[in-house]
Amino acid sequence: MKLSLHVSVMVEEVLRYLNPREDGIYVDCTLGTGGHSLAILEKTGGRIKLIGIDWDEEALRISWERLKEYRGKINLVRANFADIAKILKEQGIQRVNGFIYDLGLSSLQLEDPYRGFSFLREAPLDMRMDKRGKITASHLVNRLSRKELEDILWSLGEERWAKRMAEFIVEERKKSPISTTKELVEVIKRAVPAKFRRGKRTHFATRAFQALRIAVNQELDNLEKSLSEAIGFLFSGGRLCVISYHSLEDRIVKRKFKKVEGKELRILTPKVVRPSFQEIRVNPKSRSAKLRAAEKL
Ligand SMILES: C[S@@+](CC[C@H](N)C(=O)[O-])C[C@H]1O[C@@H](n2cnc3c(N)ncnc32)[C@H](O)[C@@H]1O
Repeated sequence: MKLSLHVSVMVEEVLRYLNPREDGIYVDCTLGTGGHSLAILEKTGGRIKLIGIDWDEEALRISWERLKEYRGKINLVRANFADIAKILKEQGIQRVNGFIYDLGLSSLQLEDPYRGFSFLREAPLDMRMDKRGKITASHLVNRLSRKELEDILWSLGEERWAKRMAEFIVEERKKSPISTTKELVEVIKRAVPAKFRRGKRTHFATRAFQALRIAVNQELDNLEKSLSEAIGFLFSGGRLCVISYHSLEDRIVKRKFKKVEGKELRILTPKVVRPSFQEIRVNPKSRSAKLRAAEKL
């Protein structure tokens, strides 16, 4: 199966807010298939240093190829961006001109039939973005208590049927472990009353899958920790751009910026920036994107 390259979101807006300058040092904390990095390198004629971070080895492999023209200018690092301070220290970098975060999953990951991110594809219940991680979705679904599962589905997925889903999961796994996406979708389907499944724009398993993915990859904790550390590395006048796709992520970014506004950062996006209609039409996956940017004082 041929996997398509991820279509980068809000590239023009990222370039406008990041405003990359020649000779600067830029960090792409979510390299993915390298689309934003490539745009930054092209914009500056490659006259920058770019650190690209991703914890998914496949993403790094693809980006290394895609950015090959700029190999002398880039360092690609397989790591969790939560460890940004450690990563930069190891690279001997003390100050940075700009950070970009484009959170969540790439299409490459979502569409990979073996990774279990999509409820539309039969796959082992995995959902790790970093295959070295010890916790999979299968661990959570088969080992957490009913209450813990309900909490994840409710707090990370805002799933209205969280309680019923958790009850149905616990009942099902007494018979045999739930080990594939298809098995989980079947249980979720039974937990959601039929009239709430039909005619909805959002698939009944969307929120549950999203919640489990966020929990498996500890996405909110990683973002919180990384942002705090990254701000400390910015030069005065340096920029930080974050694209999020989930209200909980966006809330973390918004609160973090607000907390240090006037002390460490100047907010460049008093109102969150959304993709244009034109972009959403061409790339519907961009529709939930929200961009926030700030400048170091
Ligand atoms: C939406 S994609 C980025 C796409 C990229 N901007 C592009 O234009 O191709 C998000 C990427 O961030 C990576 N990622 C998510 N959380 C991460 C983390 N905590 N540490 C490192 N990489 C992470 C994912 O593995 C994925 O490849």
